Amino acid sequence: MTERVVLAYSGGLDTSVAIGWIKEATGMDVIAMAVDLGQGGEDLDVIRQRALDCGAIEAYVADAREEFATEYCMPALKANALYMDSYPLVSALSRPVIVKHLVRAARQFDATTVAHGCTGKGNDQVRFEVGITSLAPELKCISPVRDLALTREAAIEYAEKHQLPIETTKHNPFSIDQNVWGRAVETGFLEDIWNAPTKDVYSYTDDPAYPPIPDEVHITFVKGIPVAIDGRAVTPLQAIEEMNRRAGAQGIGRIDVVEDRLVGIKSREIYEAPGAIALIAAHHELENCTIEREQARFKKQIEDRWTTLVYDGQWYSPLKKSLDAFLEDTQDYVSGEIRMTLHGGRATVTGRRSDASLYDFNLATYDEGDSYDQSNARGFIEIFGMTSKLAAARDVKFGKGVDFGVGDLS
Ligand code: ARG
Repeated sequence: MTERVVLAYSGGLDTSVAIGWIKEATGMDVIAMAVDLGQGGEDLDVIRQRALDCGAIEAYVADAREEFATEYCMPALKANALYMDSYPLVSALSRPVIVKHLVRAARQFDATTVAHGCTGKGNDQVRFEVGITSLAPELKCISPVRDLALTREAAIEYAEKHQLPIETTKHNPFSIDQNVWGRAVETGFLEDIWNAPTKDVYSYTDDPAYPPIPDEVHITFVKGIPVAIDGRAVTPLQAIEEMNRRAGAQGIGRIDVVEDRLVGIKSREIYEAPGAIALIAAHHELENCTIEREQARFKKQIEDRWTTLVYDGQWYSPLKKSLDAFLEDTQDYVSGEIRMTLHGGRATVTGRRSDASLYDFNLATYDEGDSYDQSNARGFIEIFGMTSKLAAARDVKFGKGVDFGVGDLS
């Protein structure tokens, strides 16, 4: 049997040309696999047919929408995952699920090799290849754009020469990656980091400068997962989709950031993630009410580590698995309801309630009849401030006390 390779196929120019290109360079038969992650856009049956027309011996579409939402986006929500405090890991979350489907397809079709269309400059090549190595170390991995010199010019020339059914003239200036968790746009004039994004960059969000009337939403969570919106039960996928629609209409979740890639390059990216940003804001506030203080403070560090690991393509690593166990444990009481107002680019929490809340009205209130004995505070502060007091006295003794500019300290 001729050796086989499973290609992660997007339907775009590069991966369409890669089908014939790989065949010519390696002699292997190509099986094209597209994964539906709720990216919308072109009809996936059209994409499947295109792969066959480009010479794939087999082509199929894996519907991974629920799986992606439940097993990849929900853990990111539990981690309030925002790389460099802003990017909700849209592409970084999708690569491991694509990898899983690539490996499954390789097993199913007896392929020895898998292939992806990433360039040699980004994070995604790392995420694919480290993911493959982690799940199926026996599989070989090739990257036609990077390893088989499939440049854009060569791709256009090849597509025209072989009359492949793919648009080569309409040159989209941007590199776009999108799924239900969000959308990433880079290259073109955005590479000049002083250039502001133009309207055509955006597609998941409307301009927040001209919002419709405010939209109030109630989101119910059980153990960190959104289970109902405005009282209607939803799956994780439906929750993200609905919030994409409603928060997107208000222009929420537009992000413009220069980020540090794993490969050492700083790059400028525009993201749109209306649903993710609104859900993270709601989830985070529910945690503020339900997670004990020390656990919450420590969780922040774990969140950052988790997010960096996932950004760096370590989804299947042992450390990520251990951190997952910690994060999961923190969600035990993250159940309740959040009320938010979506308006003009902002998702603002205006109310929260939970049976598991640690907020105690009788302790917090400044009204009459509170149950907090303020006289306890005095002794607590005395002891809590002890080390500072001792250290300050020593500073004075050594002439290093704080100089208030009003004369001698000693
Ligand atoms: N910079 C993001 C990441 O590394 C997105 C990468 C894909 N972006 C794109 N516009 N093609 O996760």
